[in-house]
Amino acid sequence: MTAPPLSLDADQKRALNLLAAGNRDVLGVLAGVATRQRRSLEWHARAQQVVSGGRSQLPYFSPVLPLCTEEAHAGQIVCADGHSYVDAHMGYTSGILGHNPPAVVAALGAALGKRPGAGYFVSQQVELAELICGLVPGMERVAFLHAGADAITAAVRLCRAATRRTLIAKFEGCYHGWHEPGLVNTALTWAGRAGEGPLDQIAPELATGGVSRAAGAEFLILPYGDPLALQLIRDHAAQLAGVLLDPVPRFMMNDLAGAQVFAQQLRSVTAELGIPLICDEVVTGFRLAPGGVAEAFGLQPDLSCFGKITGGLGLPLSVVGGRADLMNRATTAGLVNDYVSQKVWISTTTAANSLSVTASLAAVRAIAQAGAGLFAPLDAQHAHLKSDVNALATRLGVPLHLDGHPRLYSMLAFSLTSPDPEGTPLPDAHNPARAYFRAFTLSNVRAARLLTLYLRLQGVYMETLPTVDLSAAHTAADVTQISVGLTEAVNRMQSHGVLA
Ligand SMILES: Cc1ncc(COP(=O)(O)O)c(C=O)c1O
Repeated sequence: MTAPPLSLDADQKRALNLLAAGNRDVLGVLAGVATRQRRSLEWHARAQQVVSGGRSQLPYFSPVLPLCTEEAHAGQIVCADGHSYVDAHMGYTSGILGHNPPAVVAALGAALGKRPGAGYFVSQQVELAELICGLVPGMERVAFLHAGADAITAAVRLCRAATRRTLIAKFEGCYHGWHEPGLVNTALTWAGRAGEGPLDQIAPELATGGVSRAAGAEFLILPYGDPLALQLIRDHAAQLAGVLLDPVPRFMMNDLAGAQVFAQQLRSVTAELGIPLICDEVVTGFRLAPGGVAEAFGLQPDLSCFGKITGGLGLPLSVVGGRADLMNRATTAGLVNDYVSQKVWISTTTAANSLSVTASLAAVRAIAQAGAGLFAPLDAQHAHLKSDVNALATRLGVPLHLDGHPRLYSMLAFSLTSPDPEGTPLPDAHNPARAYFRAFTLSNVRAARLLTLYLRLQGVYMETLPTVDLSAAHTAADVTQISVGLTEAVNRMQSHGVLA
């Protein structure tokens, strides 16, 4: 009996043909991947009929052949066709404790069927708040929301209310979530090109359609890592409600020392001028150190935002917190009428629901109890993988490298040589954000995307781009499988002429 045709729509076929670029060997590999994950493609075809973009995360950067995941344990996932994969995606880094960490599963198991859902004050909220205030230096009060983007939006609103000003300074190339404050001058390649123009007059560029131009005008865009940024903050001090900083942006993953120096400079200048500093610790929180950058960099922001890992099991729970006088703007004594207009509304029906809070408490507790040692094996495994990648690149003569930080964000890339290596250096060549995104634009993105698909046949899962985000639960065998899989995949790509 012949197998039914694969569920691939016209767009997917077009995307696969573009990736293969007429190469029959590559088409054969892509057909092999599609056949191996037949049921995933059937689910995707159904999703296309009812789910916008066929999925809810990154709908327009989604993989051409999405994998439908049925199960996830520690560092592995199992797809709808029953195949196991070592997971190098880990829920956009939110799964740094591994899938279904036993302590979190046990805590949730005990709560299910017993605790209330949305809209109740429960003791676990207090325990979680106490734990976070104890871990993060300078954290006096917290509020719970869902997404990292919620926490950032709340922090911006709190600063605007406290200062009675509107302008927020943020850094070119930094992403802070899908809400308005996160979507102005984000990763520069979203606009299809690296940043350009003078660094002292960066126009607020809206990353996607539908973001209001008025919102764009409420941001002062600063060049990251540049003394100019400090000067611009001084120049606009009278209008600034706050400065929003990702303390270790993606383009600084290999230069933590530089990120620390710049964060400290920003802290000094904002403290001197009385401008609140908001630290976006959605990625760094509880993992750069148990107390995040506040501990690792010795830095006390006025407000901090946490997310991802705080969900425990990938449930939604984000945190905004910091100075009590700022955070207390979000509270009333329950006497609504007398002074609510001076207060800041931060509330959503399901925030701090007892199940999310229970999962978060178990996860943050696990990190606090294990301390920095929890992530030491992960750091070692990432270093091992990096040296395997370097050895592979040298052996095959391919420009493959693994960049980034083991606990924050890391990615495999194939560099391309600059079309004009001898040319006059650009005036902004020293700017780390522009240098990073220019290099990304120059890298072989087609090869990178193909690598994720060649790796499927080796039982290794990465999303659209080959990000390598591991967890504390990945075993040495998992990492060996990634390394062996990479060797086989890159070998095949080379023999198929993909890397020529
Ligand atoms: C640094 C940073 N801030 C904020 C966010 C937004 O978090 P969320 O996707 O939970 O809204 C992200 C998400 O990737 C992030 O990387």
